Amino acid sequence: MGAMTNRKDEHIKLALDEKSVGNANTFDEYVLEPFALSELSFETVDTSTEFLGKTQKMPLIVSSMTGGATDAERINRKLAEGANKLSIPFCTGSMSPLLKGEDVTKDYDMKKLLPNSLFFLNISVLTIRDTAKLEATLEWIERLQADGIVVHLNVLQELIQPEGERDFSGSITALKKIRELYSGLIIVKEVGVGIDEKSATILETIGVDAIECGGQGGTSWSWIEGERGKDIRGESFKDFGLPTATILSDLRDAKLPIIGSGGIRNGLDVAKVIALGGTLAGMARALLVAAMEADERSIDDIFSRIEKELKTAMVACGAVDIDALKHIRIRSRQAT
Ligand SMILES: Cc1cc2nc3c(=O)[nH]c(=O)nc-3n(C[C@H](O)[C@H](O)[C@H](O)COP(=O)(O)O)c2cc1C
Repeated sequence: MGAMTNRKDEHIKLALDEKSVGNANTFDEYVLEPFALSELSFETVDTSTEFLGKTQKMPLIVSSMTGGATDAERINRKLAEGANKLSIPFCTGSMSPLLKGEDVTKDYDMKKLLPNSLFFLNISVLTIRDTAKLEATLEWIERLQADGIVVHLNVLQELIQPEGERDFSGSITALKKIRELYSGLIIVKEVGVGIDEKSATILETIGVDAIECGGQGGTSWSWIEGERGKDIRGESFKDFGLPTATILSDLRDAKLPIIGSGGIRNGLDVAKVIALGGTLAGMARALLVAAMEADERSIDDIFSRIEKELKTAMVACGAVDIDALKHIRIRSRQAT
């Protein structure tokens, strides 16, 4: 087992620890306005939506998690099979173990399980600053028949990770370069600190296809890396960053589709993401927990629970479909 595999295993183990979850989830501070005179029926509300040219049954995406860990193939297969049933996009974790030549292709080779869904690989922007690695990334995208690539930004995580990068120069150039060389779908995301307005404007200019906000409130990578490195800064920075709900409000008028992720726990949070202006909600930790606990049936259980919760919120708010949900009033609790 290589060093990389160990790190990926540690990430899963620590992410499953409840202490990895941010102290406050801003979604709890937001209320959707109910419609007491709703005349909708649970059976007819329509949760389907479109994302990057493809129709899916629910506004959800399986956010990037794993590849290269001992359990990665099993986790990815379960989540990909669940995602395909709802035609929702599925993203693997970082493909850096592939680039390092580890024998882990099976962890990432998920396209055949996803005939109905968009399939994304994932890489750090820091890795593709290197031209040879950028080219290798594009070769793997083609070989594994991915529809696109999710590029992650994770300055804070790297700073607290014991073996992490300390120099972040060249990231914007790397994004311009991949956009120039690759005509497939590019999503850029953060991993828990969030994408701010200034960065979103730059990403829009570069011409990426969507932004996954990866805001504060869910899995805290500073806490996880702090635990790995016995670095006390991990705890201090646990709640650093922009809460997911705040980012969605800030980016409400962005031209790009915005995926609300970071701390999404259930279908009510999904409904709030849409009412706050997001195109999809992205979920990581909650799906990992389900994949770890579950035989195949219970993976379907979590997706069906999320769908029922989303529909419940829609009927209670009088939103017949996702377009209507976008216009449901949502306020911070203090303002009510
Ligand atoms: C075990 C685990 C591994 C992750 N690995 C990656 C990764 O390789 N690349 C990436 O962009 N994000 C990665 N993430 C971050 C998630 O995609 C997501 O942005 C973050 O966990 C916040 O969402 P959550 O609160 O729903 O967990 C990982 C998350 C978890 C839980």
